[in-house]
Amino acid sequence: MEVKTSLLDNMIGVGDMVLLEPLSEDSFIANLKNRFDHNEIYTYIGSVVISMNPYRSLPIYTPDKVEEYRNRNFYELSPHIYALADEAYRSLRDQDKDQCILITGESGAGKTEASKLVMSYVAAVCGKGQEVNKVKEQLLQSNPVLEAFGNAKTVRNDNSSRFGKYMDIEFDFKGDPLGGVISNYLLEKSRVVKQPRGERNFHVFYQLLSGASDDTLKKLKLDRDFSKYNYLSLDSAAVNGLDDAANFRTVRNAMQIVGFMEDEVQSVLELVAAVLKLGNIEFKPDSRSNGGDESRIKDKNDLKEMCELLGIEQSVLERAFSYRTVEAKLEKVSTTLNVAQAYYARDALAKNLYSRLFSWLVTRINESIKAQAKTRHKVMGVLDIYGFEIFEDNSFEQFIINYCNEKLQQIFIELTLREEQEEYIREGIEWTNIEYFNNATICDLIENNQTGILAMLDEECLRPGTVTDETFLDKLNTICAEHQHFESRLSKKFLTDHSLPHSCFRIQHYAGKVLYRAEGFVDKNNDLLYRDLSQAMYKATQSLIKQLFPEGNPAKVNLKRPPTAGSQFKASVGTLMRNLQTKNPNYIRCIKPNDKKASHIFTESLVCHQVRYLGLMENVRVRRAGYAFRQAYEPCLERYKMLCKRTWPHWRGPAREGVEVLMADLQVPTDEFAYGRSKIFIRNPRTLFFLEERRRQCLQDLATLIQKIYRGWKCRAQFLLLKKSQIVVSAWYRRYAQQKKYQRIKSATTLVQSYTRGWQARKLLRQLKYQKRCEEAVTTIAAFWHGTQARRELRRLKEEARRKHAVAVIWAYWQGLKVRREYRKFFRANAGKKIYDFTIQRIMQKYFLGLKSNMPPMSPIDKNWPTRPYRFLDGAHKELRRIFHLWRCKKYRSQFTEEKKAVYEEKLEASELFKDKKALYPSSVNQPFKGDYLEISKNPKYQKLNSAVEEKVLLADVVNKINRANGKGTARIFLLTKKNVFLADQKTGQVKASVPLPDLASVSVSTQSDGFFALRLKEGSASAIKGDFLLSSEHLIEIITKLHRTGAKATDKEQINVDISDEFLVQFKQDKVCVKFIQGSPKNGNSASCKRKNNRLLEVSVPMTA
Ligand SMILES: Nc1ncnc2c1ncn2[C@@H]1O[C@H](COP(=O)(O)OP(=O)(O)OP(=O)(O)O)[C@@H](O)[C@H]1O
Ligand SMILES: [Mg+2]
Repeated sequence: MEVKTSLLDNMIGVGDMVLLEPLSEDSFIANLKNRFDHNEIYTYIGSVVISMNPYRSLPIYTPDKVEEYRNRNFYELSPHIYALADEAYRSLRDQDKDQCILITGESGAGKTEASKLVMSYVAAVCGKGQEVNKVKEQLLQSNPVLEAFGNAKTVRNDNSSRFGKYMDIEFDFKGDPLGGVISNYLLEKSRVVKQPRGERNFHVFYQLLSGASDDTLKKLKLDRDFSKYNYLSLDSAAVNGLDDAANFRTVRNAMQIVGFMEDEVQSVLELVAAVLKLGNIEFKPDSRSNGGDESRIKDKNDLKEMCELLGIEQSVLERAFSYRTVEAKLEKVSTTLNVAQAYYARDALAKNLYSRLFSWLVTRINESIKAQAKTRHKVMGVLDIYGFEIFEDNSFEQFIINYCNEKLQQIFIELTLREEQEEYIREGIEWTNIEYFNNATICDLIENNQTGILAMLDEECLRPGTVTDETFLDKLNTICAEHQHFESRLSKKFLTDHSLPHSCFRIQHYAGKVLYRAEGFVDKNNDLLYRDLSQAMYKATQSLIKQLFPEGNPAKVNLKRPPTAGSQFKASVGTLMRNLQTKNPNYIRCIKPNDKKASHIFTESLVCHQVRYLGLMENVRVRRAGYAFRQAYEPCLERYKMLCKRTWPHWRGPAREGVEVLMADLQVPTDEFAYGRSKIFIRNPRTLFFLEERRRQCLQDLATLIQKIYRGWKCRAQFLLLKKSQIVVSAWYRRYAQQKKYQRIKSATTLVQSYTRGWQARKLLRQLKYQKRCEEAVTTIAAFWHGTQARRELRRLKEEARRKHAVAVIWAYWQGLKVRREYRKFFRANAGKKIYDFTIQRIMQKYFLGLKSNMPPMSPIDKNWPTRPYRFLDGAHKELRRIFHLWRCKKYRSQFTEEKKAVYEEKLEASELFKDKKALYPSSVNQPFKGDYLEISKNPKYQKLNSAVEEKVLLADVVNKINRANGKGTARIFLLTKKNVFLADQKTGQVKASVPLPDLASVSVSTQSDGFFALRLKEGSASAIKGDFLLSSEHLIEIITKLHRTGAKATDKEQINVDISDEFLVQFKQDKVCVKFIQGSPKNGNSASCKRKNNRLLEVSVPMTA
């Protein structure tokens, strides 16, 4: 259920000043202060919102707050600007009433902030969607752009709006924003060229210099240093809490969102830069020959840069600063400008340039944000106009501003009263007239077409002849002297008033008296810009500046004077007022609590002053004049129904009747209230507070009642819960106790049972054991008895069997005897031998046939032979095997050729010589004897040797000849022919020694696996002179065998002996040396090595045979 609250709940002070009791200025201020101290910055006067500037951010503008105030009635929640915005927006959307929000207050009171809050609230609650969001964003982003160009730091406000702004936001029938139109009022352009002490020029200058990139500044020919520019006051260039550089980025971004093109932004910045440059142009006097005053530009650099920026020809502008051309009908007169006039012209140009740029910006923004759809719009206008200003030195601007505020005050009074009146009529309540101060007379003093100050100023400005501020003041004095709100030293009443100087006049505004200095009024009203300057500007190549000075177009020279500033302003204010009058007004009255821009400080005198001139007290009085408080019947009944038994808790009838019953029951005097059509009107706040007090008491009683019932309910619920719990607990306990008891009984029973069963079982066991023993005894006895009987039977059977066998044998013998006797006559004497022979013959036949079919292979080395079948054939079987082997060897030999035969013969001879005698022999068996290893006859290398030998070479091989002195070997070619042995040099082939075979006595070799052999020569032979040869060869067996065979043939049956022994003597020249073979590990690995040990011993170590 939605909780309905009221403004009256939790009020700090009173939320609505109408309810203030007693109503006095003091109580009014005290109430504001009380609320301000509690951070309640908003207070109502009926539907008007008073806003105190808190000078710090409060957490009351969050999205949650927006939701809280959304679609709630105005008085439903505590006062807030959102409540007003919501009310305005809902009336616009739901009742189709155009709205305007008038925000007034003096400078720094928070008008601009309030206008932004209203806009952001409306943006938050109105429709959503891509297009709508874009519109909203553009509307909101127009603010930073205008603030940069139109706001400045003043002594009163760091972000003071120096122009008036009225923005119409347009909505469609659904309440979605379509676009907007901004109107601007009188920019304070004098600020461009001069700022009061402690104030700044417009923000944009500082923002540009601080925030633009170096590149941009270079393009704009600017320097970051503020001090370089005459138009920028330095004493407050940096403002606390203002980040110019960051703001510059925000502004650029906002311009982009609003829809400015990049070249437009660039042109705008160029114009801003041009204004700064303009300020730096200085003049010096230059006397002409004809005696007239003339001025010259001191340093033309700034002028040159400015002209480059705007695309103006330098000479044109220079001339415009030196001459002034006055055109009158057909005449054109040029006069020179003196230094003061030149400065005046420069400043006028700067002011015009800037103010026209500002107006162009507003127009350009309007172009972007204007509503696209042509349908009928609903409009919400937000007016944020400069507040009432009273300075020490008030000039034309303050006069204009204060005039505007007068008009606003007037419209406020008119509309408030009218609204009040309308409500009374609407509700059918009688209207009583109210006394209030009407400022229409002050407005008349200023704006009257004949006698008004503005009219007189215009008259002066247009009058031919010498016109000065003094002549204007004189005129004022003569015409307005009698006006009750005009004060001047010349009027009789103030002749002696020294606070009123002669050069000033004073107006009693609704907000207080303001003293205006007449100086500058005429000039400012004229707002003159020499035509030469506007023409020079028109000649610029930059399109924007051309656009800003259309009057400079020579084709459209207009000799008519342009309307004065005053009349322009009056006209625009008039339009604004007419516009506002067609709309439903909503007021926000801003008050600033102190002059220090500080939070938490409430300066009563300052607030009092504002309360007075804003006419807030009157506002309350007007509101209270008839009835102080009004409320619709439903919420009223809802709020107070508990005060009467008949309406509490429910009233079934119409709300009005309920309220009537309520009022009657409470005995409220009838003149204290009136029944409207939809609302009850309460005359006096006292009555409301009486109702509130009764309600508070009643609520307390109700609270007590609720508490009582609640406590009772709570205790009963507690008791019931305890009771229920107790039953549950006892049930559980009983169950538990029974379970325990059952378990005890069960275990006792089991015990008794087990004892009984045990006893029974033991008894049964005993019986069974006894029975078993008896059965075993019976079985044993029976077994013995059966055994005795069986053995007896066995003995009997055996005896019987023996007898039967004896009978059978005797019977058989007898039968055999009888058969032999019967068949003896059929046998001959040699029948046995014949059977024997036959049997043997059969056996042999079978044996041979078996042998035939089982013959082994013909290879002589095959060892297979069939097994013998009968032992008596053993000898024959072996003999047959031997014969078969010899036969197959013969068969094998018969296949040999002659050469192969010779080879085998040699092999056979080698076998005879060495088998089982020399360890080297077995390894030579499978080596074929090649004979000519060196292929002497074919190898051209041995051609010489071959021819030297002449005979057929039987064997040619390389051998080692052992050196007799040290036992080392030298390679030699060993040749064997039929008759000789030759030893030749291996490299040259030269024969070193030749030994005829008959000279060889013997050959000595060892029993081991070495290749050493000694050729021993016959003593006394021709070859023996050199001594024996000790040689070694890899083909020892072949060499010796061939030597032996050849020697036998050559020496006519006298064979060469082959001695096989591990020690033999060799004749070396004269000495006999013993060659001894030992088994050892020779140095050179696996081959034998020879070493001369001493004169008599040559030791050959042969590797061990495995
Ligand atoms: N509701 C607010 N919450 C917080 N600060 C505020 C609020 N209203 C105003 N201020 C502070 O006060 C300063 C002045 O407010 P603002 O610029 O709105 O004054 P103004 O009435 O528009 O003055 P001027 O007439 O000079 O333009 C703001 O810059 C801001 O710091
Ligand atoms: Mg402002």
